[in-house]
Amino acid sequence: MDLQKYGPWAVVVGGSEGVGAAFGRQLAADGFKLVLVARKQGPLDEVAGELRAGGAEVRVISADLSKHDVLDHVRTVTDDVEVGLLVYNAGANNTRGPYLDLPREVPDSVIAINVLGQTEFARHYGQGMKARGKGGIILTGSLGGYVGSGTLAAYSASKAFSRVFTEALWAECQPMGIDVLHLNIGFTATPAMARLGMPIELAEPPENVAREGLDNIANGPVWIVSTPGNYERAKLASVVENRADVVRANAIRPREETAASAAEHKKLAGSSL
Ligand SMILES: NC(=O)c1ccc[n+]([C@@H]2O[C@H](COP(=O)([O-])OP(=O)(O)OC[C@H]3O[C@@H](n4cnc5c(N)ncnc54)[C@H](OP(=O)(O)O)[C@@H]3O)[C@@H](O)[C@H]2O)c1
Repeated sequence: MDLQKYGPWAVVVGGSEGVGAAFGRQLAADGFKLVLVARKQGPLDEVAGELRAGGAEVRVISADLSKHDVLDHVRTVTDDVEVGLLVYNAGANNTRGPYLDLPREVPDSVIAINVLGQTEFARHYGQGMKARGKGGIILTGSLGGYVGSGTLAAYSASKAFSRVFTEALWAECQPMGIDVLHLNIGFTATPAMARLGMPIELAEPPENVAREGLDNIANGPVWIVSTPGNYERAKLASVVENRADVVRANAIRPREETAASAAEHKKLAGSSL
């Protein structure tokens, strides 16, 4: 990763585990200084300790992205440094249910993190990049953002917003020297997925996802991680005709069926995910 273009500091939102921690490790190895953002102090300190032991300069801040003043809070540790790269990884999809039955806090939090958070952070750190004429922004998406999915209405809609927003931001920022990428990921072996009881041994390792994001930051506006089946799923869910059939065909399946489908893709690809 080009430290001159995207450094010296990178802010990784949701940087305490999984894909976010993998971004932190790979950026630290390339000489970046890091600000890691997440809620729980313990995992933040653990990742920071590991990176500092390797020689990196790391700041951490415990912050909740669902709070309206979260950016002000994060800025207390970034206003005095030059942030050349923003990786907004946190996406928080841990509660499923029919939209009309869910407590209001659930969709509100998803929208705050994936819509308001991504746009606010991109605007703030993007403005600094614009002034310097260089930098990069990676906003994390999901294959779920290609079609509305029952029991995940706010989540799938928020990831669709993220993709369309990123495409527009990419178009605007290219002439300014800022690379913008929507990193569209599929089933990935993160601790969040493990906590949901998903069979993460069948999923893409987070290190691969972070690597593809960094390697393709200049290949925006959208990069679909190359896990077998991801591209095909995105394509099938994107057709314009017969949306009723598309929505039905892409209905969220029980978690055990996700496992079966991941196993099938793995077998077909002969891959060692
Ligand atoms: N894993 C998958 O299979 C998968 C599939 C498609 C898309 N994605 C997308 O990939 C990204 C990473 O997913 P993930 O599975 O690692 O789970 P995640 O919960 O979105 O991300 C975990 C990271 O985000 C932090 N975080 C979560 N909620 C937060 C909040 N309210 N405020 C501040 N930090 C918060 C977590 O730390 P704390 O808990 O300490 O706050 C942790 O550092 C997300 O954008 C997700 O939508 C994942």
